[in-house]
Amino acid sequence: GLPGLPTRVTLGVSLCLAPTFLLLLAVPLGAPMCPMLCTCYFSPPTVSCQANNFSSVPRILPPHAQRLFLQNNLIGTLRPGMFGPSLTTLWLYSNNISSIHPGTFRHLQALEELDLGDNRNLRTLDPDTFRGLERLQSLHLYRCQLSSLPNTIFRNLFSLQYLYLQENNLLCLQDDLFVDLANLSHLFLHGNKIWQLSEYVFRGLSGLDRLLLHRNRLHAIPAWAFRDLGKLTILYLFNNSLTMLSGDTLSDLPSLEFLRLNNNPWACDCRAHSLWGWFQRTRVSVSDVICASPAERKGQDMRYLREAAFQASLPHPHPHPHPHPRPHPNGSSNHLYGLGGSPPADPSSFYRDVPANDIRSPKYDPPTEDDYWESYGNEEGGQLKKGCPGPGCSSLDSGAIRIGSLSFPLTCLLMLLGPSWF
Ligand SMILES: *[C@@H]1O[C@H](CO)[C@@H](O)[C@H](O)[C@H]1NC(C)=O
Ligand SMILES: *[C@@H]1O[C@H](CO)[C@@H](O)[C@H](O)[C@H]1NC(C)=O
Ligand SMILES: *[C@@H]1O[C@H](CO)[C@@H](O)[C@H](O)[C@H]1NC(C)=O
Ligand SMILES: *[C@@H]1O[C@H](CO)[C@@H](O)[C@H](O)[C@H]1NC(C)=O
Ligand SMILES: *[C@@H]1O[C@H](CO)[C@@H](O)[C@H](O)[C@H]1NC(C)=O
Repeated sequence: GLPGLPTRVTLGVSLCLAPTFLLLLAVPLGAPMCPMLCTCYFSPPTVSCQANNFSSVPRILPPHAQRLFLQNNLIGTLRPGMFGPSLTTLWLYSNNISSIHPGTFRHLQALEELDLGDNRNLRTLDPDTFRGLERLQSLHLYRCQLSSLPNTIFRNLFSLQYLYLQENNLLCLQDDLFVDLANLSHLFLHGNKIWQLSEYVFRGLSGLDRLLLHRNRLHAIPAWAFRDLGKLTILYLFNNSLTMLSGDTLSDLPSLEFLRLNNNPWACDCRAHSLWGWFQRTRVSVSDVICASPAERKGQDMRYLREAAFQASLPHPHPHPHPHPRPHPNGSSNHLYGLGGSPPADPSSFYRDVPANDIRSPKYDPPTEDDYWESYGNEEGGQLKKGCPGPGCSSLDSGAIRIGSLSFPLTCLLMLLGPSWF
Protein backbone atom coordinates (compact mmCIF):
# COMPACT_ATOMS: atom_id res chain seq x y z
CA GLY A 1 0.00 0.00 0.00
CA LEU A 2 0.76 3.65 -0.18
CA PRO A 3 1.82 4.22 3.42
CA GLY A 4 4.76 1.92 2.95
CA LEU A 5 6.11 3.71 -0.05
CA PRO A 6 7.89 6.67 1.57
CA THR A 7 9.72 4.35 3.90
CA ARG A 8 11.03 2.24 1.11
CA VAL A 9 12.05 5.33 -0.76
CA THR A 10 13.87 6.75 2.23
CA LEU A 11 15.65 3.50 2.85
CA GLY A 12 16.68 3.27 -0.77
CA VAL A 13 18.06 6.80 -0.69
CA SER A 14 20.03 6.10 2.47
CA LEU A 15 21.51 2.95 1.07
CA CYS A 16 22.58 4.83 -2.00
CA LEU A 17 24.09 7.72 -0.10
CA ALA A 18 25.97 5.97 2.66
CA PRO A 19 26.20 2.21 2.33
CA THR A 20 29.40 1.90 4.32
CA PHE A 21 27.97 3.97 7.16
CA LEU A 22 25.02 1.60 7.46
CA LEU A 23 27.28 -1.42 7.37
CA LEU A 24 29.33 -0.06 10.27
CA LEU A 25 26.14 0.59 12.21
CA ALA A 26 24.93 -2.92 11.53
CA VAL A 27 27.90 -4.54 13.27
CA PRO A 28 27.13 -3.59 16.87
CA LEU A 29 23.37 -3.89 16.33
CA GLY A 30 23.53 -7.28 14.64
CA ALA A 31 23.67 -10.76 16.13
CA PRO A 32 25.74 -10.89 19.35
CA MET A 33 29.33 -11.58 18.52
CA CYS A 34 30.36 -13.99 21.12
CA PRO A 35 33.92 -15.13 20.36
CA MET A 36 34.34 -18.78 19.44
CA LEU A 37 34.52 -21.12 22.45
CA CYS A 38 33.32 -18.36 24.79
CA THR A 39 29.99 -17.96 26.54
CA CYS A 40 28.28 -14.59 26.67
CA TYR A 41 25.66 -13.28 29.06
CA PHE A 42 23.43 -10.23 28.86
CA SER A 43 23.08 -8.82 32.31
CA PRO A 44 25.57 -7.59 33.18
CA PRO A 45 27.13 -7.97 29.74
CA THR A 46 29.72 -10.69 30.31
CA VAL A 47 32.09 -12.62 28.09
CA SER A 48 33.47 -15.76 29.62
CA CYS A 49 36.38 -17.41 27.83
CA GLN A 50 38.20 -19.18 30.61
CA ALA A 51 40.17 -22.40 30.31
CA ASN A 52 40.41 -22.64 26.53
CA ASN A 53 44.17 -22.70 26.03
CA PHE A 54 43.85 -19.37 24.19
CA SER A 55 47.31 -18.05 23.35
CA SER A 56 46.00 -14.53 22.84
CA VAL A 57 43.01 -12.36 23.69
CA PRO A 58 40.18 -12.93 21.15
CA ARG A 59 40.55 -10.29 18.48
CA ILE A 60 36.92 -9.14 18.44
CA LEU A 61 35.04 -8.86 21.70
CA PRO A 62 31.50 -7.52 22.20
CA PRO A 63 32.16 -3.80 22.61
CA HIS A 64 29.80 -3.28 25.53
CA ALA A 65 31.02 -6.14 27.67
CA GLN A 66 31.45 -5.13 31.27
CA ARG A 67 32.98 -8.34 32.53
CA LEU A 68 35.61 -10.32 30.67
CA PHE A 69 36.87 -13.62 32.05
CA LEU A 70 40.03 -14.89 30.38
CA GLN A 71 41.63 -16.80 33.23
CA ASN A 72 43.28 -20.20 32.80
CA ASN A 73 44.46 -19.70 29.27
CA LEU A 74 47.96 -19.34 27.80
CA ILE A 75 47.87 -15.66 26.88
CA GLY A 76 51.43 -14.30 26.72
CA THR A 77 51.24 -10.62 25.75
CA LEU A 78 48.81 -7.78 26.41
CA ARG A 79 48.68 -4.78 24.07
CA PRO A 80 46.70 -1.54 23.70
CA GLY A 81 43.42 -2.02 21.85
CA MET A 82 42.63 -5.46 23.23
CA PHE A 83 40.14 -4.27 25.85
CA GLY A 84 37.15 -1.96 25.54
CA PRO A 85 36.32 0.99 27.79
CA SER A 86 33.13 -0.55 29.22
CA LEU A 87 34.98 -3.17 31.24
CA THR A 88 34.51 -3.10 34.99
CA THR A 89 35.94 -6.56 35.68
CA LEU A 90 38.86 -8.15 33.88
CA TRP A 91 40.21 -11.52 34.97
CA LEU A 92 43.47 -12.61 33.42
CA TYR A 93 44.83 -14.77 36.18
CA SER A 94 46.59 -18.09 35.55
CA ASN A 95 47.79 -17.29 32.06
CA ASN A 96 51.36 -17.03 30.76
CA ILE A 97 51.53 -13.25 30.55
CA SER A 98 55.13 -12.07 30.35
CA SER A 99 54.64 -8.67 28.78
CA ILE A 100 52.10 -5.90 29.26
CA HIS A 101 52.68 -3.11 26.78
CA PRO A 102 52.24 0.45 28.07
CA GLY A 103 48.74 1.74 27.37
CA THR A 104 47.05 -1.68 27.48
CA PHE A 105 44.66 -0.52 30.22
CA ARG A 106 44.80 3.20 29.62
CA HIS A 107 41.24 3.73 28.42
CA LEU A 108 39.57 1.41 30.90
CA GLN A 109 38.20 4.24 33.01
CA ALA A 110 35.38 2.11 34.40
CA LEU A 111 37.62 -0.77 35.48
CA GLU A 112 37.09 -1.78 39.11
CA GLU A 113 38.78 -5.16 39.33
CA LEU A 114 41.89 -6.33 37.49
CA ASP A 115 43.26 -9.78 38.23
CA LEU A 116 46.70 -10.51 36.79
CA GLY A 117 47.68 -13.01 39.46
CA ASP A 118 49.43 -16.31 38.88
CA ASN A 119 51.26 -15.30 35.72
CA ARG A 120 54.58 -16.87 36.52
CA ASN A 121 56.52 -15.25 33.70
CA LEU A 122 55.53 -11.70 34.59
CA ARG A 123 58.82 -10.26 35.86
CA THR A 124 58.56 -6.53 35.23
CA LEU A 125 55.90 -3.88 34.91
CA ASP A 126 56.12 -0.62 33.03
CA PRO A 127 55.70 2.41 35.34
CA ASP A 128 52.57 3.47 33.40
CA THR A 129 50.86 0.08 33.34
CA PHE A 130 47.97 1.14 35.56
CA ARG A 131 47.86 4.81 34.66
CA GLY A 132 44.35 6.25 34.47
CA LEU A 133 42.60 3.47 36.40
CA GLU A 134 41.07 5.87 38.86
CA ARG A 135 38.09 3.63 39.59
CA LEU A 136 40.16 0.53 40.24
CA GLN A 137 39.27 -1.07 43.57
CA SER A 138 41.07 -4.43 43.42
CA LEU A 139 44.41 -5.14 41.82
CA HIS A 140 45.69 -8.71 41.91
CA LEU A 141 49.37 -9.25 41.20
CA TYR A 142 49.99 -12.27 43.41
CA ARG A 143 52.16 -15.22 42.38
CA CYS A 144 53.95 -13.55 39.51
CA GLN A 145 57.73 -13.20 39.41
CA LEU A 146 57.98 -9.54 40.25
CA SER A 147 61.26 -8.69 41.95
CA SER A 148 60.79 -4.93 42.03
CA LEU A 149 58.10 -2.35 41.41
CA PRO A 150 58.54 1.00 39.64
CA ASN A 151 58.28 4.02 41.98
CA THR A 152 55.14 5.37 40.33
CA ILE A 153 53.35 2.14 39.49
CA PHE A 154 50.44 2.81 41.89
CA ARG A 155 50.18 6.57 41.42
CA ASN A 156 46.68 8.06 41.18
CA LEU A 157 44.91 4.79 41.98
CA PHE A 158 42.77 6.74 44.42
CA SER A 159 39.98 4.16 44.63
CA LEU A 160 42.17 1.14 45.28
CA GLN A 161 41.05 -0.89 48.30
CA TYR A 162 42.71 -4.28 47.78
CA LEU A 163 46.25 -4.77 46.58
CA TYR A 164 47.55 -8.33 46.38
CA LEU A 165 51.30 -8.62 45.89
CA GLN A 166 51.95 -11.82 47.79
CA GLU A 167 54.14 -14.66 46.56
CA ASN A 168 56.39 -12.71 44.26
CA ASN A 169 60.15 -12.19 44.53
CA LEU A 170 60.07 -8.66 45.87
CA LEU A 171 63.30 -7.77 47.67
CA CYS A 172 62.60 -4.28 48.92
CA LEU A 173 59.92 -1.65 48.84
CA GLN A 174 60.90 1.96 48.34
CA ASP A 175 59.62 5.16 49.91
CA ASP A 176 56.21 6.45 48.85
CA LEU A 177 55.38 3.43 46.74
CA PHE A 178 51.77 3.52 47.99
CA VAL A 179 51.51 7.22 48.71
CA ASP A 180 48.25 7.88 46.77
CA LEU A 181 46.41 4.88 48.19
CA ALA A 182 44.51 6.55 51.02
CA ASN A 183 41.56 4.22 50.41
CA LEU A 184 43.60 1.03 50.53
CA SER A 185 42.24 -1.43 53.06
CA HIS A 186 44.22 -4.65 52.40
CA LEU A 187 47.91 -4.78 51.48
CA PHE A 188 49.20 -8.33 51.05
CA LEU A 189 52.96 -8.64 50.77
CA HIS A 190 53.57 -12.03 52.35
CA GLY A 191 55.66 -14.75 50.76
CA ASN A 192 58.17 -12.43 49.12
CA LYS A 193 61.89 -11.97 49.83
CA ILE A 194 61.61 -8.54 51.35
CA TRP A 195 64.56 -8.09 53.66
CA GLN A 196 64.32 -4.40 54.41
CA LEU A 197 61.64 -1.76 54.32
CA SER A 198 62.49 1.84 53.72
CA GLU A 199 61.40 4.36 56.31
CA TYR A 200 58.50 5.92 54.37
CA VAL A 201 57.31 2.90 52.44
CA PHE A 202 53.85 2.96 54.02
CA ARG A 203 53.37 6.73 53.84
CA GLY A 204 49.86 7.72 52.81
CA LEU A 205 48.14 4.47 53.79
CA SER A 206 45.83 6.18 56.25
CA GLY A 207 42.90 3.82 55.62
CA LEU A 208 44.84 0.55 55.76
CA ASP A 209 43.12 -2.16 57.78
CA ARG A 210 45.43 -5.13 57.32
CA LEU A 211 49.07 -5.44 56.42
CA LEU A 212 50.46 -8.91 55.81
CA LEU A 213 54.26 -9.13 55.76
CA HIS A 214 54.79 -12.67 56.98
CA ARG A 215 57.11 -15.13 55.26
CA ASN A 216 59.63 -12.55 54.17
CA ARG A 217 63.25 -11.92 55.24
CA LEU A 218 62.79 -8.81 57.27
CA HIS A 219 65.51 -8.30 59.85
CA ALA A 220 64.40 -4.85 61.01
CA ILE A 221 61.41 -2.55 60.90
CA PRO A 222 62.26 1.15 60.50
CA ALA A 223 61.34 3.14 63.59
CA TRP A 224 58.63 5.24 61.95
CA ALA A 225 57.45 2.81 59.32
CA PHE A 226 53.93 2.54 60.76
CA ARG A 227 53.36 6.21 61.48
CA ASP A 228 50.51 6.72 58.98
CA LEU A 229 48.71 3.47 59.74
CA GLY A 230 46.19 4.83 62.22
CA LYS A 231 43.45 2.41 61.13
CA LEU A 232 45.49 -0.78 60.94
CA THR A 233 43.85 -3.63 62.85
CA ILE A 234 45.86 -6.65 61.63
CA LEU A 235 49.64 -6.85 61.29
CA TYR A 236 51.41 -10.11 60.47
CA LEU A 237 55.18 -10.25 60.81
CA PHE A 238 55.65 -13.94 61.53
CA ASN A 239 58.28 -16.06 59.76
CA ASN A 240 60.78 -13.28 59.22
CA SER A 241 64.29 -12.69 60.57
CA LEU A 242 63.43 -10.07 63.14
CA THR A 243 65.60 -9.92 66.23
CA MET A 244 64.04 -6.76 67.59
CA LEU A 245 61.21 -4.31 67.12
CA SER A 246 60.72 -1.06 68.96
CA GLY A 247 57.68 -0.74 71.20
CA ASP A 248 57.40 2.88 70.06
CA THR A 249 57.03 1.69 66.48
CA LEU A 250 54.03 -0.38 67.56
CA SER A 251 52.64 2.52 69.59
CA ASP A 252 52.02 4.25 66.26
CA LEU A 253 49.20 1.75 65.65
CA PRO A 254 46.27 2.87 67.83
CA SER A 255 43.69 0.60 66.14
CA LEU A 256 45.77 -2.58 66.18
CA GLU A 257 43.87 -5.69 67.32
CA PHE A 258 45.89 -8.67 66.08
CA LEU A 259 49.65 -8.93 65.89
CA ARG A 260 51.60 -12.05 64.92
CA LEU A 261 55.31 -12.06 65.65
CA ASN A 262 56.01 -15.78 65.98
CA ASN A 263 58.85 -17.60 64.19
CA ASN A 264 61.35 -14.79 64.38
CA PRO A 265 64.74 -15.07 66.11
CA TRP A 266 63.93 -12.61 68.88
CA ALA A 267 66.80 -11.30 70.99
CA CYS A 268 65.51 -11.10 74.54
CA ASP A 269 68.26 -8.92 75.90
CA CYS A 270 68.26 -5.18 76.50
CA ARG A 271 67.22 -4.58 72.90
CA ALA A 272 63.84 -6.09 73.71
CA HIS A 273 63.09 -3.69 76.53
CA SER A 274 60.79 -1.32 74.66
CA LEU A 275 58.92 -4.16 72.92
CA TRP A 276 58.50 -5.93 76.25
CA GLY A 277 57.19 -2.67 77.73
CA TRP A 278 54.66 -2.38 74.92
CA PHE A 279 53.43 -5.92 75.65
CA GLN A 280 52.82 -4.96 79.27
CA ARG A 281 50.53 -2.06 78.40
CA THR A 282 48.81 -3.23 75.23
CA ARG A 283 45.42 -4.88 74.84
CA VAL A 284 46.29 -6.21 71.39
CA SER A 285 46.06 -9.95 70.81
CA VAL A 286 49.65 -11.08 70.24
CA SER A 287 51.04 -14.42 69.07
CA ASP A 288 53.84 -16.04 71.01
CA VAL A 289 57.19 -14.23 70.89
CA ILE A 290 59.75 -16.93 71.61
CA CYS A 291 63.28 -15.84 72.47
CA ALA A 292 66.10 -17.22 70.33
CA SER A 293 68.76 -15.61 72.49
CA PRO A 294 70.50 -15.07 74.83
CA ALA A 295 71.16 -18.72 75.56
CA GLU A 296 69.61 -18.69 79.02
CA ARG A 297 66.30 -17.32 77.68
CA LYS A 298 66.09 -19.40 74.54
CA GLY A 299 62.62 -20.88 74.24
CA GLN A 300 60.98 -18.48 76.68
CA ASP A 301 58.21 -16.14 75.64
CA MET A 302 59.42 -12.56 75.68
CA ARG A 303 56.04 -11.26 76.77
CA TYR A 304 56.28 -12.94 80.16
CA LEU A 305 59.87 -12.06 81.09
CA ARG A 306 60.30 -9.93 84.18
CA GLU A 307 61.45 -6.38 84.07
CA ALA A 308 64.58 -7.48 85.92
CA ALA A 309 65.64 -9.32 82.79
CA PHE A 310 66.32 -5.99 81.17
CA GLN A 311 68.05 -4.35 84.09
CA ALA A 312 70.83 -6.80 84.84
CA SER A 313 74.01 -6.70 82.88
CA LEU A 314 74.19 -9.10 79.95
CA PRO A 315 75.20 -11.60 78.79
CA HIS A 316 76.29 -12.93 82.19
CA PRO A 317 74.59 -16.25 82.76
CA HIS A 318 72.18 -16.42 85.69
CA PRO A 319 72.23 -12.71 86.42
CA HIS A 320 69.53 -12.98 89.06
CA PRO A 321 68.07 -15.69 91.30
CA HIS A 322 65.36 -16.71 88.81
CA PRO A 323 67.05 -17.18 85.46
CA HIS A 324 64.05 -19.03 84.02
CA PRO A 325 60.97 -17.03 84.93
CA ARG A 326 57.79 -18.90 84.25
CA PRO A 327 55.19 -17.40 81.93
CA HIS A 328 52.76 -15.04 83.55
CA PRO A 329 49.96 -17.36 84.72
CA ASN A 330 47.18 -15.18 83.33
CA GLY A 331 49.21 -13.94 80.41
CA SER A 332 47.31 -15.59 77.62
CA SER A 333 44.00 -14.26 78.74
CA ASN A 334 45.43 -10.77 78.98
CA HIS A 335 47.09 -10.83 75.63
CA LEU A 336 45.02 -13.09 73.47
CA TYR A 337 41.66 -11.78 74.41
CA GLY A 338 42.52 -8.24 75.36
CA LEU A 339 41.18 -8.54 78.88
CA GLY A 340 42.72 -6.58 81.68
CA GLY A 341 46.48 -6.21 81.54
CA SER A 342 49.02 -4.11 83.31
CA PRO A 343 48.46 -0.45 83.94
CA PRO A 344 49.67 1.62 81.00
CA ALA A 345 53.22 2.93 81.28
CA ASP A 346 54.46 6.21 79.91
CA PRO A 347 55.43 5.33 76.34
CA SER A 348 58.54 7.45 76.46
CA SER A 349 59.74 6.38 79.89
CA PHE A 350 62.58 4.33 78.43
CA TYR A 351 64.01 7.42 76.83
CA ARG A 352 63.88 9.72 79.78
CA ASP A 353 67.64 10.33 79.76
CA VAL A 354 67.84 11.13 76.08
CA PRO A 355 66.72 14.43 74.57
CA ALA A 356 63.86 13.79 72.16
CA ASN A 357 65.84 15.28 69.29
CA ASP A 358 68.54 12.66 69.61
CA ILE A 359 66.00 9.91 69.21
CA ARG A 360 64.06 11.48 66.38
CA SER A 361 66.96 12.65 64.24
CA PRO A 362 69.83 10.31 64.89
CA LYS A 363 73.26 10.75 63.45
CA TYR A 364 74.87 7.63 62.19
CA ASP A 365 77.94 6.37 60.40
CA PRO A 366 77.56 5.28 56.80
CA PRO A 367 76.68 1.61 56.80
CA THR A 368 79.29 -0.89 55.71
CA GLU A 369 78.89 -3.90 53.48
CA ASP A 370 78.73 -6.04 56.63
CA ASP A 371 75.77 -4.03 57.87
CA TYR A 372 73.85 -4.89 54.73
CA TRP A 373 74.49 -8.56 54.86
CA GLU A 374 74.70 -9.27 58.53
CA SER A 375 72.14 -11.93 59.41
CA TYR A 376 70.72 -11.96 55.91
CA GLY A 377 69.22 -15.35 55.24
CA ASN A 378 70.46 -16.60 58.59
CA GLU A 379 67.41 -17.33 60.64
CA GLU A 380 69.01 -18.84 63.72
CA GLY A 381 72.54 -17.79 64.56
CA GLY A 382 74.78 -14.81 64.13
CA GLN A 383 72.16 -12.23 65.01
CA LEU A 384 73.61 -11.12 68.29
CA LYS A 385 77.28 -10.80 67.70
CA LYS A 386 77.30 -7.10 68.50
CA GLY A 387 75.47 -7.59 71.78
CA CYS A 388 74.86 -4.70 74.09
CA PRO A 389 77.31 -1.83 74.30
CA GLY A 390 77.96 -2.06 78.02
CA PRO A 391 76.70 -3.28 81.33
CA GLY A 392 72.99 -3.01 81.87
CA CYS A 393 70.59 -1.56 79.35
CA SER A 394 71.34 2.02 78.58
CA SER A 395 68.38 3.98 77.34
CA LEU A 396 70.21 4.42 74.04
CA ASP A 397 70.12 0.77 73.10
CA SER A 398 66.87 0.80 71.22
CA GLY A 399 67.72 4.12 69.62
CA ALA A 400 71.02 2.84 68.34
CA ILE A 401 69.33 -0.13 66.77
CA ARG A 402 66.74 2.05 65.15
CA ILE A 403 69.47 4.26 63.75
CA GLY A 404 70.87 1.26 61.95
CA SER A 405 67.51 0.44 60.49
CA LEU A 406 67.34 3.79 58.70
CA SER A 407 69.84 2.75 56.08
CA PHE A 408 68.43 2.07 52.68
CA PRO A 409 69.49 -1.30 51.34
CA LEU A 410 72.14 -1.27 48.67
CA THR A 411 70.28 -3.78 46.55
CA CYS A 412 67.27 -1.46 46.45
CA LEU A 413 69.40 1.39 45.19
CA LEU A 414 70.96 -0.74 42.52
CA MET A 415 67.63 -2.12 41.42
CA LEU A 416 66.12 1.32 41.16
CA LEU A 417 68.97 2.42 38.94
CA GLY A 418 67.82 -0.16 36.46
CA PRO A 419 68.48 -3.63 35.20
CA SER A 420 71.60 -2.54 33.32
CA TRP A 421 73.48 -2.76 36.60
CA PHE A 422 73.14 -6.51 36.65
C1 LIG B 1 44.48 -27.44 26.99
O1 LIG B 1 45.72 -28.10 26.81
C2 LIG B 1 45.90 -29.21 27.66
C3 LIG B 1 47.31 -29.72 27.46
O2 LIG B 1 47.63 -29.82 26.12
C4 LIG B 1 44.84 -30.26 27.36
O3 LIG B 1 44.99 -31.34 28.24
C5 LIG B 1 43.48 -29.63 27.57
O4 LIG B 1 42.46 -30.55 27.22
C6 LIG B 1 43.32 -28.39 26.72
N1 LIG B 1 42.08 -27.76 27.04
C7 LIG B 1 41.21 -27.34 26.12
C8 LIG B 1 39.94 -26.73 26.59
O5 LIG B 1 41.44 -27.46 24.92
C1 LIG C 1 55.02 -19.14 28.31
O1 LIG C 1 55.76 -18.01 27.94
C2 LIG C 1 57.13 -18.24 27.76
C3 LIG C 1 57.79 -16.93 27.40
O2 LIG C 1 57.58 -15.98 28.37
C4 LIG C 1 57.34 -19.27 26.66
O3 LIG C 1 58.72 -19.56 26.53
C5 LIG C 1 56.58 -20.51 27.00
O4 LIG C 1 56.67 -21.43 25.92
C6 LIG C 1 55.13 -20.20 27.27
N1 LIG C 1 54.44 -21.40 27.70
C7 LIG C 1 53.37 -21.86 27.08
C8 LIG C 1 52.80 -23.12 27.64
O5 LIG C 1 52.87 -21.29 26.14
C1 LIG D 1 38.95 7.82 48.73
O1 LIG D 1 39.22 8.49 49.93
C2 LIG D 1 38.89 9.84 49.93
C3 LIG D 1 39.31 10.41 51.25
O2 LIG D 1 40.51 9.89 51.64
C4 LIG D 1 37.40 10.00 49.70
O3 LIG D 1 37.08 11.37 49.62
C5 LIG D 1 37.04 9.32 48.40
O4 LIG D 1 35.66 9.35 48.23
C6 LIG D 1 37.50 7.90 48.39
N1 LIG D 1 37.24 7.34 47.11
C7 LIG D 1 36.68 6.16 46.95
C8 LIG D 1 36.41 5.75 45.57
O5 LIG D 1 36.40 5.45 47.89
C1 LIG E 1 57.35 -20.59 59.56
O1 LIG E 1 58.64 -21.00 59.99
C2 LIG E 1 58.63 -22.25 60.66
C3 LIG E 1 60.01 -22.50 61.20
O2 LIG E 1 60.97 -21.71 60.62
C4 LIG E 1 58.20 -23.31 59.68
O3 LIG E 1 58.16 -24.57 60.31
C5 LIG E 1 56.81 -22.97 59.18
O4 LIG E 1 56.42 -23.89 58.20
C6 LIG E 1 56.78 -21.58 58.59
N1 LIG E 1 55.43 -21.24 58.31
C7 LIG E 1 55.05 -20.73 57.18
C8 LIG E 1 53.61 -20.40 57.03
O5 LIG E 1 55.83 -20.52 56.27
C1 LIG F 1 44.97 -15.18 87.66
O1 LIG F 1 43.57 -15.40 87.57
C2 LIG F 1 42.99 -15.99 88.73
C3 LIG F 1 41.51 -16.21 88.46
O2 LIG F 1 41.31 -16.59 87.14
C4 LIG F 1 43.20 -15.09 89.95
O3 LIG F 1 42.68 -15.70 91.10
C5 LIG F 1 44.67 -14.80 90.09
O4 LIG F 1 44.86 -13.88 91.15
C6 LIG F 1 45.28 -14.27 88.83
N1 LIG F 1 46.70 -14.12 88.98
C7 LIG F 1 47.35 -13.04 88.61
C8 LIG F 1 48.82 -13.06 88.82
O5 LIG F 1 46.80 -12.07 88.07
